[in-house]
Amino acid sequence: MENRGSFGSKLGIILASAGSAVGLGNVWRFPTEVGMNGGAAFILIYIACVMLMGIPLMTAEFIVGRHTHKNPVDAYRTLAPKTGWVFQGIMGVFAAWFILSYYSVVAGWTLKYLVSAVADQVTTMTDSAAYFTEFTQNAWMPVVAMAAVLLMSHWVIVRGVQGGIEKYSKMMMPMLLLIIAVLVVCSFAMPGSDTGLRFLLKPDFTKINGDVLLSAMGQAFFSLSVGMGCLCTYASYFTDDAKLMKTAGSVALIDTSVAVMSGFIIFPAVFSVADVAPDAGPGLVFITLPTVFQTAFAHAPLIGWLFAVMFYTLLLLAALTSMMSLHEPVTSFLIERFAMKRRTATSVVTFSCIALGTLCAMSFGPLADVRWLFGMTFFDFFDFVSAKIIMPLGGFLLSIFVGWYLPKDLVVKEITNNHALHFPRWLFVGFFFLIRWVAPMAIVAIFINELVS
Ligand code: TRP
Repeated sequence: MENRGSFGSKLGIILASAGSAVGLGNVWRFPTEVGMNGGAAFILIYIACVMLMGIPLMTAEFIVGRHTHKNPVDAYRTLAPKTGWVFQGIMGVFAAWFILSYYSVVAGWTLKYLVSAVADQVTTMTDSAAYFTEFTQNAWMPVVAMAAVLLMSHWVIVRGVQGGIEKYSKMMMPMLLLIIAVLVVCSFAMPGSDTGLRFLLKPDFTKINGDVLLSAMGQAFFSLSVGMGCLCTYASYFTDDAKLMKTAGSVALIDTSVAVMSGFIIFPAVFSVADVAPDAGPGLVFITLPTVFQTAFAHAPLIGWLFAVMFYTLLLLAALTSMMSLHEPVTSFLIERFAMKRRTATSVVTFSCIALGTLCAMSFGPLADVRWLFGMTFFDFFDFVSAKIIMPLGGFLLSIFVGWYLPKDLVVKEITNNHALHFPRWLFVGFFFLIRWVAPMAIVAIFINELVS
């Protein structure tokens, strides 16, 4: 059996976990949700979801991983021997594998747009919607792009925990944060950006209804990577002095800041160009923004070029660090269950994901007419099964497992690092209340709502 390895420092732990959390969900999905759900009011509700459910659930997942120092399947097997709980671990590994397959497709688009931006095509294209459709419908380009990003993630994962995940997270995350800060300043400086700021900062509570509430929760879970074995796997490499609750809090803070700043980049820019709608949906970053870059920087094409290059670099960095966290659970499972070498295990994951990813990438072109359950394409099917079914289920089971199944003193010992840390009593009362009652009930509500719609 190979040596498992562990993270070398607390900073490494935080940056790697933040890398998992900060992804396309922040830069791509969050602004879209904000745009569709009424601006600042949505952001406030989102923050409440992160604090009341996100942080407790992340802590719970950290407990499972750090206590056992094992891959998700063996972690549940160890904590609950000879019970059905191992299913939760198996589901996590499969979910990570599925998500990686379709997530890589969108990550591939960002790579393609980065290349186009560098080649000065993004700021000069005449019809951005046609450009996007033509690319995604192409038979091979999206497949090549998807395989390329998977190979990048492969490059990191074969190098293991400290020499791979930690080292590259420590390089990529600061770069990402720096780019985001520069872009926020640039976006504020655009003429007319104050309309966008007002949209983001003035809460419109009339838009809030049950649907919006549930979208905010779903977005929080996706963005924090909770419930699917990613955080559990990373936590299995945490050192014994890592502070679980503090790490969860820091990661949630970084993740939420990046999401809000992405809003600060996108909306002032979008509103500075008059006739582009803020609720353009998922096409926002691939269709709306190229138009914005062009119009807003019509008199300074060089700055437009730079803005576009930086923006797509940001998106690619965010996607890559999240892909790493999806790659690792499956890899560690193969290494530890089937006694594979890291190199072999990583390759199995990479190439199987390229195969599945090809089906997803072609869902917009050659395979657009191949429909699965409920008339979905491969891409939609993967997205639906993992994000809409397995994610809430995983989060629900996680809260039951840590809140009700695990002995309370095991949980307390893990949070306090074996009583080395002292917390006020209300913190534990609050934690158990949230993880036992609030989180599972809220997740059931999201789930029912999704089924109904
Ligand atoms: N959180 C990432 C994002 O915001 C995506 C992600 C990584 C994820 N690992 C996950 C989502 C596990 C769900 C489950 O883009």
